Amino acid sequence: MADIIDGKSIAAAVVQTVKARTAELLSSGHRAPGLAVVIVGEDPASQVYVASKSKKAKECGFHSVQHTLAADTSEEFLLKLIHDLNQDDAINGILVQLPLPAHLDAGKVIQAIAPEKDVDGFNFINVGKLVAGETETAFVPCTPAGAMLLIERVRGKDLSGLSAVVVGRSNIVGKPMASLLLAANCTVTMAHSRTKDLPNVCRGADILVAAVGRPEMIKGDWVKPGATLIDVGINRAPGLPGAERPTRLVGDIDFSSASEHAGAITPVPGGVGPMTIAMLMANTLASAALAAGLERPIF
Ligand code: GUN
Repeated sequence: MADIIDGKSIAAAVVQTVKARTAELLSSGHRAPGLAVVIVGEDPASQVYVASKSKKAKECGFHSVQHTLAADTSEEFLLKLIHDLNQDDAINGILVQLPLPAHLDAGKVIQAIAPEKDVDGFNFINVGKLVAGETETAFVPCTPAGAMLLIERVRGKDLSGLSAVVVGRSNIVGKPMASLLLAANCTVTMAHSRTKDLPNVCRGADILVAAVGRPEMIKGDWVKPGATLIDVGINRAPGLPGAERPTRLVGDIDFSSASEHAGAITPVPGGVGPMTIAMLMANTLASAALAAGLERPIF
């Protein structure tokens, strides 16, 4: 049976470090890291995510601001807000929660965020740095950065000689994940919905990262014995027969069959999920440290 990778406790340790470094910043006369989270509209899932980001920022001792804008906010208004936050010395990180309402051009809005405050790592400057292997100066998107930390906890920092398969090619997870694994010396395969014979591709993976959004798609017999499995998926599936709740959360990996073959596996929930917010805090702290002329903390 596989080891369960405890994302909750690894995320808690990251947050503890962020708290301690924030306290050090304050005691050496610097300002608290500032995080501005912007949400447009009333998408219930986005509201929950944003509230937990703002809350965690407060818990870390940050200056935490949330801008909650009406669903019909104009692009001009939103761009002006981002411009003002770019200029505001009290703000080190700006996060615009996605998806945005359809009348807003998300690409334009994200690219308006100053690269040095782009703690989501979506600005093309940060995307380019990551692809170029400049992982020490880039802001890396929080979910793949968190997934990478979990992989390092299992396999160490140098992944030379290991074969990694990333299933899913999104800009938020799949592509940056592949860049991180490549920077760590893995031989990387990017698989996606059009990949031929996906089970066989997955069977070659020492490290398998699933980010496709298909409930329990990756089965136990797709898993190389001893592999490290990172499940980024969060899907709602019907509850098990006889269970009290009508639905349950599942990942993209069929946990019960896969954990019979894997060496280590992340659970859903409690795996990658908690790491995303923790890495947002880490990125915001890093941005504040750089703005203060200090060394960037490494996690
Ligand atoms: N929506 C879902 N995930 C994310 C994320 O990581 N960042 C932002 N800004 N929006 C999201």
